[in-house]
Amino acid sequence: MNEPITGKGLDRVDARAKVTGKAAYAAEIAVANVTYAVIVGASIGKGKVTAIDVAAAKRVPGVLAVLTHENAPKLPGADKPRVSPQDRMLQFLQDTQIHYDGQPIALVVADTLERAREAAGLVVARYDAEKPALSMEAEMGSAYAPKETVRGPTDTRHGDFEAAFAKAAVKVDQTYTMAPENHNPMETHATIAVWQGDDRLTLYDTTQGGFIVRDKMATLFGLPKENVRVISHFLGGGFGCKGSPWSHVPLCAMAAKVTRRAVKLALTRQQMFHFVGHRPRTVQHVALAADKKGKLAAIRHELVAWTSRIDEFIEPAASWTRPMYACDNVTTTHRIVRLDVATPTFTRAPGAASGSFAMETAMDELAYALNMDPLELRLTNYAEKDHDSGKPFSSKELRACYRRAADRFGWAKRKMPPRSTLDGHWLVGMGMATAAYPAHQRPSSAIAKIKQDGTVVVQAGSHDLGTGTYTIMAQIAADAIGQSFEKVRFELGDTTMPEAPLAAGSQTAASVGSAVKKAAAAARAELVKTAIADSRSPLYGTPEAEIEAADGVLQANGKRDPYADIVRRSGKGEIAAKVDAKEREERSAFACHAFGAQFCEVRVDEATGEIRVGRVVGAFAGGTILNAKTARSQLLGGIVWGIGLALLERAERDARTGRVVTREFQDYHLPVNADVPPIEVILVDEVDPHVSDVGAKGLGEIGITGMGAAISNAVFHATGKRIRDLPITLDRLL
Ligand code: MOS
Repeated sequence: MNEPITGKGLDRVDARAKVTGKAAYAAEIAVANVTYAVIVGASIGKGKVTAIDVAAAKRVPGVLAVLTHENAPKLPGADKPRVSPQDRMLQFLQDTQIHYDGQPIALVVADTLERAREAAGLVVARYDAEKPALSMEAEMGSAYAPKETVRGPTDTRHGDFEAAFAKAAVKVDQTYTMAPENHNPMETHATIAVWQGDDRLTLYDTTQGGFIVRDKMATLFGLPKENVRVISHFLGGGFGCKGSPWSHVPLCAMAAKVTRRAVKLALTRQQMFHFVGHRPRTVQHVALAADKKGKLAAIRHELVAWTSRIDEFIEPAASWTRPMYACDNVTTTHRIVRLDVATPTFTRAPGAASGSFAMETAMDELAYALNMDPLELRLTNYAEKDHDSGKPFSSKELRACYRRAADRFGWAKRKMPPRSTLDGHWLVGMGMATAAYPAHQRPSSAIAKIKQDGTVVVQAGSHDLGTGTYTIMAQIAADAIGQSFEKVRFELGDTTMPEAPLAAGSQTAASVGSAVKKAAAAARAELVKTAIADSRSPLYGTPEAEIEAADGVLQANGKRDPYADIVRRSGKGEIAAKVDAKEREERSAFACHAFGAQFCEVRVDEATGEIRVGRVVGAFAGGTILNAKTARSQLLGGIVWGIGLALLERAERDARTGRVVTREFQDYHLPVNADVPPIEVILVDEVDPHVSDVGAKGLGEIGITGMGAAISNAVFHATGKRIRDLPITLDRLL
């Protein structure tokens, strides 16, 4: 056996294609005779379209069609139920009702993008407008409990929070709010639709879930699933917004059907703030009580978030708290308020980024109420099992994360009182928080093929958001099939490939990785069987158990048979195995989560309130690391998202229309390189025999969790001001 390639910090196999521009994103795919569609959005936040004048738009040379509710085809499956829990209600010109600002009201198709844009600008709509309700606080009375969240029940209750809280020695009871955020991957949503005849549709779409797009389009257009093919080989980021198809996808397919041409529809940056999801505004109440030694007696975490009038999405923030600490009296609740906004969706660690901000800031407040070191408070209440489900953790190296990150950061040097460190005109503060994200495994299929030249092709219809999926899957396959890494190619992003789950929820490595490992092992077993049954093989008749596989050669007792020879002699084009991997059964006996610890230093200008993150140290335990480099990059990226969430990102709405007014990067601030300090990521060793067949938990989102609190806690330590509303902007510190 060779040294395993899995775990090594290899460069991404798609890196060269990315930097040389050869990796084609959805809108860059070359499709013959393509035409261009542009969406016209409503300019009111609520009401009805009463008239729409498209005459001027139609007169623009090269315009092929202008679709509105008056002439858009009625789709046969428009009223069919959703195809998956991630599927959202879409708006594709079926009626006159306006539910939110920017809702598509017309679609212009022309032979060039410029002509389509010009014509779109000439569409004039008249409305019967109503005033949209946009304030969660004003509508709090209408808050209701949804049936469930994506992270378990809406409410949980263990013990008696009220009684324990009432008699506890030390208490914190506060409200934490977060601004709505938008996803904003560099690659905006884009689709190219091509019909083959009347009943076969190919979509080049930028998506995290090709099979969901396929199923949704098949349902809407009344087609068998196999008549719809969705291709998405590269994504320029995803972040949750590409986890389900939005309205532009059926609109694009509709335009292609009407014009009988291939149609390309790419959203503008502004439209990314209209109808492709966002993180909803959240209001969280956290009440904590402890005895004088800091032992938690009671926890209550209540979330209220907004959703749209037309669909339900709940940011599952209070669920984050459920498995976190050892405490007998824990109550958590989720409520939603319907407003005249577009439907929110999963956004960069949904529930966990937001929930950890509220809970871990409250923990810091409790530490100060106790005059106890914040890290010491976490260790005092360390959960040895999940007190919510009562199950043991599949693994939990959080103690090591705390210790390694604290040591590296120099936490021991921190003085407890706020405003205790001044460096010139900078107030310097240190904050910490716990990070955690659930470790999912979903069913996934994969196929592994050994070709006549001995090379290996493995396929699963998954996606690579830019995170390294292509690379880690090839690493897993190389080890499992016994071929060198260079001779293994992993392919993804096509619904003609074996079905893989949504590339979201930090679940791809564990889910698809397990399927790839099993398929590769099965193909190898098939190869071994073929060789030992073949009288022309040097290994003919060798007992299976004696055979070793490495570098594309089977060997036993000094005899060798290369993969290429075995496949060629078999007379088959290839030796292949397809596997449908289920979620591991033993997982149900455990609580499965990745954990980590975030430590950061912030510097606040005493005079101007300017906030700079000085440095960050994060330590994470996510089971087996499949690629040390891409794992680190994911965690770095997550921490940078956290800087955005804590200090910069805010989708501000016009109170009259609900229009997001910060819908350019000059107004919607994301961290740029100058905002990113030295970040150190520590990968803590963790062996988890239960969590997945590759031992990995997934690290795609945990990096952002804890960051909101670590930064807000550091701001408090620096300034003595407790800011409970994100983002923390300098005006709040003056
Ligand atoms: Mo992630 S928000 O689950 O794509």
